[in-house]
Amino acid sequence: MKAWRVVRKGSPREALELQDVALPDPAPGQIRVRTSATALNFNEIDGCYGRYRTVDPPLPYTLGMEAVGEVDAAGPGLEAWIGRRVATTGLGATGAHAEWVLGDANMSFESPASLDDEEAAAFFFPFHVAYLSIFERGHLHEGETLLVHAAAGGVGSAALQLGVAFGARVFATAGSAEKVAFCKELGAELAIDYRSEDFVPAVLEATGGRGVDVVCDLVGGEVTTQSFRCMAFGGRHMMTGFSGGIEAEDEGGLVPRPILFGNFSVGGVLMAYGESPRGGPMQVNLVPRAVGESIQARLVEWLDAGRIRPLVGRVADYREIVDEYERMEARATTGRSILRWPEKDAR
Ligand SMILES: NC(=O)c1ccc[n+]([C@@H]2O[C@H](COP(=O)([O-])OP(=O)(O)OC[C@H]3O[C@@H](n4cnc5c(N)ncnc54)[C@H](OP(=O)(O)O)[C@@H]3O)[C@@H](O)[C@H]2O)c1
Repeated sequence: MKAWRVVRKGSPREALELQDVALPDPAPGQIRVRTSATALNFNEIDGCYGRYRTVDPPLPYTLGMEAVGEVDAAGPGLEAWIGRRVATTGLGATGAHAEWVLGDANMSFESPASLDDEEAAAFFFPFHVAYLSIFERGHLHEGETLLVHAAAGGVGSAALQLGVAFGARVFATAGSAEKVAFCKELGAELAIDYRSEDFVPAVLEATGGRGVDVVCDLVGGEVTTQSFRCMAFGGRHMMTGFSGGIEAEDEGGLVPRPILFGNFSVGGVLMAYGESPRGGPMQVNLVPRAVGESIQARLVEWLDAGRIRPLVGRVADYREIVDEYERMEARATTGRSILRWPEKDAR
């Protein structure tokens, strides 16, 4: 089967090769999915460069975190998955950009029937990550305000939509005039190009000087420390991603004073579902699978009611993966970028 392999560290163009590899068989706890569509994740670019320490397998390995397709084989006891169309996470968050993917059943969900394959691929990660950030960990309450950074992106646009669907006042930052307009279309009350304007005074003004209750921070670095200047009393700043520079994930340097003086909380968010309390190569705290299932049910309810929708920014042939990563790296994408994989009969 064909698979996009990271064969050396470097830019996606330098790092990736489309290779033929053996069809894998599922072990206990795993399902095998015949890929129809895969979504591009920003962290996969970090993976190419070798700067993503959370997912850092030895070379060569198949890149890709998530895929949509039909389950055609399953580990013992998981036969009920066979024949279902799912969104799955590749084992160790790798292996998805391939014709077949081995997925962790705990990190797989049946795709809503109302979505086509590309839409289904744009639904799973963005909305689960955003839901965990805003509600499960950020505890957004009725009548509160939400600030989303990189709000025109894959996860960001999902967070923005969820906040709006919940009835919150949502403020957004994004990196161009077009993206700002896109955030407003999605229902942001205030959208700021944070590459040309300081968002802190704008957020303080919009909240009558009080500050914002919950921040879904997908950028990190300076954007994080800036956000600390516009947090409300009792606010919750959710560190959810580091698209401004993944290296910040492993750096020290959070200055305690603004947190203490601000009377707000700083929290972390990792979408990793499992049955045991801890797991994965880094022994992280897992979110119980049952929480993932209840989030999926709530998301499907909101999807069916037309309150949220997956945003497919671009659809490309799987052979064009490098061009698509380059667009993403250049901050030129909105919503989710999706790759389409060949039909079964064309393989
Ligand atoms: N916690 C979790 O479990 C989890 C799971 C999946 C993804 N994530 C995180 O979610 C974030 C968003 O992922 P995504 O796949 O949806 O990507 P994305 O947001 O669609 O793309 C990345 C965006 O980040 C912004 N950005 C800010 N500084 C940047 C820089 N220096 N270089 C490039 N882009 C920069 C850009 O938007 P602007 O131009 O608008 O700034 C860019 O479009 C990532 O940080 C990822 O790590 C977290």
